[in-house]
Amino acid sequence: MTIIGNGIDLVDVKRIRDMVERHGQRFLDRCFTKVEQAYCDDAPRRRFEHYAARFAAKEAALKVLGTGLRDGIAWTDLEIVREPSGKPKLVVSGRCAEIATEQGIDHWMISLSHTETLATAMALGIATPSSGCGTE
Ligand SMILES: CC(C)(COP(=O)(O)OP(=O)(O)OC[C@H]1O[C@@H](n2cnc3c(N)ncnc32)[C@H](O)[C@@H]1OP(=O)(O)O)[C@@H](O)C(=O)NCCC(=O)NCCS
Repeated sequence: MTIIGNGIDLVDVKRIRDMVERHGQRFLDRCFTKVEQAYCDDAPRRRFEHYAARFAAKEAALKVLGTGLRDGIAWTDLEIVREPSGKPKLVVSGRCAEIATEQGIDHWMISLSHTETLATAMALGIATPSSGCGTE
């Protein structure tokens, strides 16, 4: 398998809290899928940490693609879901999936961490040998 790109991001939890308090559901729906909202809203005490970590993960993945939020990409094209163990997994769709495919990325690795004040995420975009882009 070949690492096509990596990305990292750090988000101030207060910045996300402020956006939610200022723009409410409109901000949440623009940035987070219903699955993400359900997970974050289910943990009231750490709600904004979970949101901030997911926001960091989306920005980290955009760094992998090297595009930023343009070229028709929506925040909700990048979704963090959870494996049964609690491990986060990135699912891409829409324009984001198209760009990933153009770059040969067919697998993502994501890791999140957060405290009361900061949330961070790192992302790897990977080409597995079966995708035709990986060389080892
Ligand atoms: C899962 C674990 C690594 C999380 O670490 P933490 O320091 O509590 O919390 P962090 O803020 O660094 O990380 C939280 C994120 O870890 C991720 N995570 C949860 N389970 C995971 C797993 N099995 N594999 C990878 N990542 C996982 C999640 O994305 C979570 O964020 P989210 O709830 O917003 O999705 C930790 O709780 C754990 O189980 N460690 C195993 C060792 C252990 O039991 N340690 C405790 C005694 S020292």
